[in-house]
Amino acid sequence: EHMHSFLKELPKCEHHVHLEGTLEPSLLFNLAKRNAITLPTHFPPSVEACNERYNRFTDLQDFLDHYYIGMSVLIKEADFYDLAMEYFTKAHSDGCLHSEVFFDPQGHVERGISIDTVVEGFDRACKEANTRFGTTNKLIMCLLRHLPASSGLQTINDAHKYYESGIIHGLGLDSSEKPFPPHLFTDCYQTLKTKFPQVGLTAHAGEEGDHTFVTNSLDLLNVTRIDHGVNSQHSDELMERLAANRTLLSLCPLSNVKLQVVKDVSELPIDKFFNNNVPFSINSDDPAYFGGYILDNYITVHTRFGFNGLQWKQIALNGINGSWCDEDRKTELR
Ligand code: HPA
Ligand code: ZN
Repeated sequence: EHMHSFLKELPKCEHHVHLEGTLEPSLLFNLAKRNAITLPTHFPPSVEACNERYNRFTDLQDFLDHYYIGMSVLIKEADFYDLAMEYFTKAHSDGCLHSEVFFDPQGHVERGISIDTVVEGFDRACKEANTRFGTTNKLIMCLLRHLPASSGLQTINDAHKYYESGIIHGLGLDSSEKPFPPHLFTDCYQTLKTKFPQVGLTAHAGEEGDHTFVTNSLDLLNVTRIDHGVNSQHSDELMERLAANRTLLSLCPLSNVKLQVVKDVSELPIDKFFNNNVPFSINSDDPAYFGGYILDNYITVHTRFGFNGLQWKQIALNGINGSWCDEDRKTELR
């Protein structure tokens, strides 16, 4: 109980949360009704059925099949705003001071929703959260790796004005990992980085893919952060590289259990990363689907690894240092 309030008060930053993955079943069904969307008959038909089904995903793809159906209820700018505001409100109540949030424009554009509708709704929520809570936020656009690089390049083009204005800060890569390795997206990353040298680059790697997916993301995509990266544990050389370059791994412990990457959080190499000076943050990934927000993830890690107060402060500090906010904001967060 004392530890719960200590972890809540720690200055936490979130670097790995998909806004579409914060769509709680209750909001999902409300929006389906509001927008007169009929969900496919194989989708769980109620909040209770969702909670039951979400508790037994077999792997990443099984989750993604639900995630893409879930996001189909998002139609209007206000839907994207409402979704993000629910997340920012929850993150604030968990003591999260700075969030860098993913979204998947291709998952909306392919349904006929314009990227402007998506970005305007999310951006309005970012600004409202800053006004209301004083929390800071950054939007990271992700490319869906199961779609061709040509679609990724088109998406980068469509988002051009938002990178120019700083409304979108970063680029990530998500969806089905193993069949779609990093080299497929070399051109997408290089194109964006050439036009906008200040952009933050990250990619999902080493969640279901092996450690070479992490190394290839570093070498070919020039990312400065790795989302998940748990399989980095199997290469000592890579571990040393991550530590030496201060490359942040955005770990998602409850996600890894729900998607059966591991059976229990205690099997994750979190102590190994800590002891080898590999920087990491602790994140929620798709909290509406995996049953826990950022504080739940911190608490679960604490119950399994029992870090002391000093170690927790170091973990929080590594998260601040690995954030993409400016130095003034980092100083405030520390
Ligand atoms: N991995 C890959 N793609 C995703 C994830 C994830 O954990 N969450 C949402 N899209
Ligand atoms: Zn993710």
